[in-house]
Amino acid sequence: MDLKILNKMNKTQAYINTNKDRFLNELLELLRIPSVSADSSFNNDVQKCADTLSENLKNIGLSNVHVYPTAGHPIVYGEKIIDASLPTVLVYGHYDVQPADPLELWHSDPFDPVVKKTDLHPQGAIFARGSCDDKGQMFMHVKAAEAMIASGELSCNVKFMIEGEEEVGSENLGIFVKEQKELLKADIILVSDTGMLANDVPSITTGLRGLSYVEVELTGPNRDLHSGLYGGCVANPINILCDMISQLQNDDLAVTIPGFYDRVETLSQEERGEMGKAPFSKEAYCKSIDINDVHGEKGYSTMERGSIRPSLDVNGIWGGYTGEGAKTVIASKAYAKISMRLVPNQDPDDITKLFTEYFSSIAPDGVTVKITPHHGGEPAVTPVDSIGYQAASNAYEKSFGKKPIPVRSGGSIPIVAMFEKELGLKTVLMGFGLDSDAIHSPNEHYGVFNFYKGIETIPYFFESFTKLSN
Ligand code: BES
Ligand code: MN
Ligand code: MN
Repeated sequence: MDLKILNKMNKTQAYINTNKDRFLNELLELLRIPSVSADSSFNNDVQKCADTLSENLKNIGLSNVHVYPTAGHPIVYGEKIIDASLPTVLVYGHYDVQPADPLELWHSDPFDPVVKKTDLHPQGAIFARGSCDDKGQMFMHVKAAEAMIASGELSCNVKFMIEGEEEVGSENLGIFVKEQKELLKADIILVSDTGMLANDVPSITTGLRGLSYVEVELTGPNRDLHSGLYGGCVANPINILCDMISQLQNDDLAVTIPGFYDRVETLSQEERGEMGKAPFSKEAYCKSIDINDVHGEKGYSTMERGSIRPSLDVNGIWGGYTGEGAKTVIASKAYAKISMRLVPNQDPDDITKLFTEYFSSIAPDGVTVKITPHHGGEPAVTPVDSIGYQAASNAYEKSFGKKPIPVRSGGSIPIVAMFEKELGLKTVLMGFGLDSDAIHSPNEHYGVFNFYKGIETIPYFFESFTKLSN
């Protein structure tokens, strides 16, 4: 596509320039609301965040703005229908955030945003929980829509659906989508809730991994025992749990659960070669997280291990005495939370079942195992030859001056596969975060450059998508 035809959006871009500071201040206001979805003591703040967002949607000129209550946290909806015969872009995002703890590791209050320069963000980064995941990225769409509407350059219809439960599994959004198919009628779903390779290496996410998440509980003796009186004579659930976990991977760091890889899509050497062109520095990667080497499945690069290959990780493990000093005790119980990231064709329910069968089968006599599945999700891919991808690619090329690289991400947004199933719609993932932005971690931040670059790029997507839809 000739990018020159995207030139005429200069009123929108001028509007963005004039209103930049206000846009940032409005984001900071949203970030001050601690909308932690996982912790019910924040329920009022989650509601307040939804209300604030809905006010903003009304102010930018959207119609039919509603805060839909659900059995959990509310969903914020709004739309601007300019002509029913034009295409419709459905923007999805989330206003809920992960819990901020451990609080003591933050250099500033997670809900009192500050802008500070970093090596990767010389123009400053906004430090706050949710700055990148996902308030900062979701809000770019609100401000881009404001700019397009205010300057009379919105080229197609737009709908917003912003949920408050993404970080806890989007259960109620699933129900909402099934019930509101008419309301959500669209041609494409647009999401900014992923990342890109670097501020000077734009990329578009073409795949997300799925997720199977289980909690395991091992029970040995019916009470904690004196480790001198019983040590060596009974199965210690913590020892056994560690042993069982270590059996989940072999020496090549492949997952040993029978059937785990049966449906994993194998990429051709050519496809892998194409993927390998994305710039990656092992040294920079290691340095950024202070490790002396990478670690992962034999036969695959780090990029591949984190995108086209499934993985298994213990996310938490506990049991026994963890207080001060030494308490000589054999615990009655041991626990772990285990996540498996899945790739195309692996089904989360099947994998949970395979895990359950295998994990139960390797438990020795002397312990019993209880396995509780948590929320999961299916993987998703966006084909690069779709007009959604092409429009996004044009938009990045226009704003960054470079063609973006397609890359698959290791993260999960389970609702994306659900959108495809229920609404028959593909999702375009225009993420502007960096892996180093520390999402879900202490000191999460989002580049001011990235925030503005997103707002600049989004209108080009709308323009290009409208043109390509003809
Ligand atoms: N925005 C992230 C997912 C993400 C981040 C994908 C960066 C790709 C790149 C999302 O909010 C998230 O954290 N998802 C969870 C899954 C969910 C079921 C809790 C995840 O990936 O752990
Ligand atoms: Mn997110
Ligand atoms: Mn998240």
